[in-house]
Amino acid sequence: MKRPLQTALLTLTALAMLASTAQARTWADIKKSGSIKIATEGAFPPFNVLKGKELTGFEVDLANELAKSLGLKVQWVTQPFDNLLIGLKSDRYDFVIASHGITPERAKAVDFTNPHYCTGGAIVTKPGGPMTAAALSGKTVAVQVGTTYLENVRKVPGVKDVKTFPKDTDAQAALMAGRTDAWVGDKFTGIELVKAQKGKVVQGALLFNERIGMAVQKGNVSLLKELNAALTKSLSDGSYAKISGKYFGQDVRCK
Ligand code: ARG
Repeated sequence: MKRPLQTALLTLTALAMLASTAQARTWADIKKSGSIKIATEGAFPPFNVLKGKELTGFEVDLANELAKSLGLKVQWVTQPFDNLLIGLKSDRYDFVIASHGITPERAKAVDFTNPHYCTGGAIVTKPGGPMTAAALSGKTVAVQVGTTYLENVRKVPGVKDVKTFPKDTDAQAALMAGRTDAWVGDKFTGIELVKAQKGKVVQGALLFNERIGMAVQKGNVSLLKELNAALTKSLSDGSYAKISGKYFGQDVRCK
């Protein structure tokens, strides 16, 4: 199954080409308007979750905190994960916070802030299933489309099939329903899944580490600078630690 990766790469190339045409709102524009438009997915617990009309999660609280310290009101927008960076290119919002790993490929299309947390991609399987990269040989794996999980699972030699899903929660459901041998996703999401499924699944090896950042339109240096300053402040004034503790019981900042 070569398609999803090729499609993702093509999309990113197209994005890079579009980069110069759209006009992002600068920090001066945003400040003058008094509010900032932030996009996320809303289907990636515990980072960004939309339940009914309520948007919650670590990244939602963190972005609200950053906006508050910048003196701005927030307007949230939710989009399928795979559309988020495309919408950023076409000026539908000012920045994206949706657990994007900072990768060289994405950094060609958007600019990333300093990382707002550090994490990794890990295997989850049913007891007796594949727990290591080597054990994935000959197995089927479920991942969310457009993610670093897909990119990294494709590098594991011998994987029989990688099934992609628009939503991460659907990829998890495929494992639960026995349609794949494993799911690869965020290590913190994996811990939650194991807890919620009470012994029906177990977490295996960490396949890779990643630094997660917020994305602004390429070249929007003024906004990038303000977001980085607000993040630095939050990391040092205790507000970041409080939000992280609430969702993870630990501090998930990059060390
Ligand atoms: N960290 C992974 C990546 O960078 C997954 C992000 C998925 N985010 C989401 N909101 N579903 O691709």
